[in-house]
Amino acid sequence: MQHLLSIKQLSIADVELLLARAHFFKHAKKYPEYPEQSVATLFYENSTRTRMSFEIAAKKLAMPVYNLDMAHSSESKGESLSDTLANLAAMGIHSFVLRHSEDHILENLKGVSSQIHLINAGDGQHAHPSQALLDLMTIWENKPALNTLKIAIVGDVRHSRVANSLQSLFALVGVKELVFVAPAVWPPRTLHFGRWTESLRDGLEDADVVIGLRVQKERLKKDAQLDLTDYCMQYGIRQELLGLAKSDVMLMHPGPVNRGIEMDDTVVSHPRSYILQQVTNGVFMRMAIFERLILA
Ligand code: CP
Repeated sequence: MQHLLSIKQLSIADVELLLARAHFFKHAKKYPEYPEQSVATLFYENSTRTRMSFEIAAKKLAMPVYNLDMAHSSESKGESLSDTLANLAAMGIHSFVLRHSEDHILENLKGVSSQIHLINAGDGQHAHPSQALLDLMTIWENKPALNTLKIAIVGDVRHSRVANSLQSLFALVGVKELVFVAPAVWPPRTLHFGRWTESLRDGLEDADVVIGLRVQKERLKKDAQLDLTDYCMQYGIRQELLGLAKSDVMLMHPGPVNRGIEMDDTVVSHPRSYILQQVTNGVFMRMAIFERLILA
């Protein structure tokens, strides 16, 4: 595997290998070391979890990491992303972790050297493959019979790159039922697996896993605005609704959570919340991704 740009490029064998390796790293006392393999992170959009966990993952594998300060890079003087990558590669960087507001930006790059690895850390509304993989790891650790699960993804499905990547990944691993719960203004942009409902009760009923999504305020165009108080009343995941789901439901969210909008405080910190376990697993899944790319 040269790059990780989208879940769609992965086979089921790829996913199983990544899960097994991430699980190994989670329980290992010692890690392999790849000090010759340096990494640069280029985040054109803000991030807490993704950037830090890629950095921590690289450091655990003894890979040197450099963060390019995008506010002060020479792209502000007109240098293209391709040229930025070529220049960093000329300094000896091997892997690039990149987040950008433009859909498909990495897939559309021309003239990428065959010597480097690109990792999509979130591109616009398109894909966030490492997030989907760490989410799957969290589910698989706790409910390994994926083909028996009903999973509900609730919220701003339309603008969510996480929802897109999860749709592809859940289709690949064959979960039993995937339900997107979203208001009429935020339906899925593409629906090749699962179904969409406007009813939160329909989605939550007998769900094994409930994944809340952040309202992507920065991506809402005029025709996609929704009063957040109304949204919260109709789609906020509140403790009193959890009785609709299975008693051992997993409550998840990729973060950052807008508490009181997508989820109540009591749900975020509920005993059945796996939100911080997702974050923990992110480090190990990203170690597995780095290793897979550099050993390919
Ligand atoms: N889940 C996620 O992508 O979080 P960050 O935006 O903090 O990286």
